[in-house]
Amino acid sequence: MDFRVKNILLLVALLAVLIAGCGQGRPSENSPLSIDRGMATQPKNKPYGESRFYSDGSAMRLPVPGTVAQGYLNDDVTYFTGKDEKGNFVKSMPVSITRTLLKRGQERFDIYCSPCHSRLGDGKGIMITRGYLPPPTFHDHRMRQLPDGHIFDVISHGIRNMPSYGHQISVSDRWAIVAYMRALQKSQNARIEDIPAELRQGIR
Ligand code: HEC
Repeated sequence: MDFRVKNILLLVALLAVLIAGCGQGRPSENSPLSIDRGMATQPKNKPYGESRFYSDGSAMRLPVPGTVAQGYLNDDVTYFTGKDEKGNFVKSMPVSITRTLLKRGQERFDIYCSPCHSRLGDGKGIMITRGYLPPPTFHDHRMRQLPDGHIFDVISHGIRNMPSYGHQISVSDRWAIVAYMRALQKSQNARIEDIPAELRQGIR
């Protein structure tokens, strides 16, 4: 290539860079002058934006009826609601009880439930000493008879004066809490026969 042509090309390139650099990053009322807008302007719709394409004037679309987001199928009714197909609360939880589950349940219970219900579940948590409405003890006859599904539902949606914890506690953790609450109830209403014979000596 000719030396002069090369120089002219270089000059043009330099000018282009200079012009493109102008107007960006400086406060001005006018729209910035730029040769290559790059990705600064994108022809896309934003949430709540206007659209002249759709007849309702909104850029937002509703999902096709029946669409299920990934991971939200929730087709196991009992697991996700604590109820059977007829809508009755299930007596026993649909999750097998393991030591890990109980440990997890204890941890979650102490975090989320004990402020009101206390770690013992007697309803004398710290919130009550600060004036919150006292919840009932978990250790009376009615509470011991409650179906597991009902307790799951109380955590999910709250009940009367108790707020719901469905948004804070995952479904699997709710069942872990139910299992731990059952263990708590058993611990406060245990008979000597519930303890393995070889361990009874140490009990006063
Ligand atoms: C902010 C305080 C508070 C927290 C936290 C709380 N509860 Fe409660 N709970 C209450 C109150 C108050 C009641 C009594 C509701 C009523 O009968 O008005 C109650 C009642 C209950 C009942 C009895 C429902 C019935 O059928 O009468 C259960 C079971 C229960 N709570 C479980 C839990 C579990 C499990 C947690 C933790 C995930 C929890 N609660 C966290 C305040 C609380």
